[in-house]
Amino acid sequence: MVKVLCVLYSGGKHAQEQPRLLGTIENKLGLEQYMKDNGHEFVVTDDKEGPNSVFAKEIVDAEVVITTPFHPGYLTKEIMATAKKLKLCITAGIGSDHIDLDAANEHKLTVAEVTGSNVVSVAEHVIMTILILVRNYNVGHEQVYRSKAWDVAAVAKDSYDLEGKVVGTIGAGRIGYRVLERLLPFNCKELLYYDYQDLPAEAAKKVGARRIEDIKEFLGACDVVTVNAPLHAGTKDLINEETIKYMKDGAWLINTARGAICNAEAVRKAVDSGKLRGYGGDVWNVQPAPADHPWREMSGPGGRGNAMTPHVSGTSIDAQERYAAGTKAIFDNWLAGKPQKPEDLITESGSYATKAYGNRVAQNQEAKK
Ligand code: NAI
Repeated sequence: MVKVLCVLYSGGKHAQEQPRLLGTIENKLGLEQYMKDNGHEFVVTDDKEGPNSVFAKEIVDAEVVITTPFHPGYLTKEIMATAKKLKLCITAGIGSDHIDLDAANEHKLTVAEVTGSNVVSVAEHVIMTILILVRNYNVGHEQVYRSKAWDVAAVAKDSYDLEGKVVGTIGAGRIGYRVLERLLPFNCKELLYYDYQDLPAEAAKKVGARRIEDIKEFLGACDVVTVNAPLHAGTKDLINEETIKYMKDGAWLINTARGAICNAEAVRKAVDSGKLRGYGGDVWNVQPAPADHPWREMSGPGGRGNAMTPHVSGTSIDAQERYAAGTKAIFDNWLAGKPQKPEDLITESGSYATKAYGNRVAQNQEAKK
């Protein structure tokens, strides 16, 4: 019998209206009955900020923490130091950067995520966002829906075809590759990727993607850049005032990976000035994003270029069902002492179990020499 602390977002009336909205404090990943039947203490909260939050108070004797990237319970080094009984951190979704992974290794915590659970959901959101920006969709929609106006030229002057453009992904893992696959029918001029790992030859051939190893060369070659890499020391602020200069004038930038990979002020300036024709995505460097976050207000000439949403791409109803089931599977494996699926493991027994967070497996091996 263990204590499980779970941080989810509040669903309010939406959780009543849609029982399949599992990632909410009301619907509790569908785990409430299961936890009760098995005698576990199951504390579910959305109150996660500051020393007086339920999260900070309840973690001190929890053995398992379940968090989601959508409403992240930030497991900092300091919080971890108070969590004397903690053994397992499950990310209900993908992306465990809200956990201080180096500290998790120091404490020998297992960090596992539900790998693959929402990769299709995000890839679809990426394709949608690319089209919204490239077609200048928002400006047209705003015209007819909010302003009750009709000005075809104002929309068309910044509306392009995706066909014939060069599109590149930073990170060609599960999501990045699915984005490339979905771009194939659009007949882009070229598909590129920037990653420190090569795609398997067969996979690269299938989508006809070319790897560029130099970030400046990569950024300079793309009309559309989509970011699909995890947030870690090597990707934080990767897109900043300096690197944006290497991008083509009028390029589009899409980031559904993590907000902090792109510098918020630098992006705002680039969109406002027209250097970038648009920026879109659903991830923010702080979540929930404050009302005065620069990405809420930014917009280029003619109101173009803002395709932001709250963090929703990976939390479609279908995705929620997959990551809820995956969370239970990870918890069950842990309880039964069974090995986790290798692809779900981020850290285990004091070291990184994945190459995706800055190739730290190599760093671990180096450190052990
Ligand atoms: P993955 O592990 O399959 O692929 C990540 C790829 O990024 C790997 O190929 C890795 O080598 C590459 N990479 C790592 N560091 C890099 C760097 N410095 N430069 C270039 N490439 C680098 O992960 P997956 O499933 O594709 O997810 C990627 C990220 O997307 C997650 O870590 C998460 O942050 C984000 N995500 C966002 C969601 C949302 O709802 N917006 C939902 C799911 C994931």
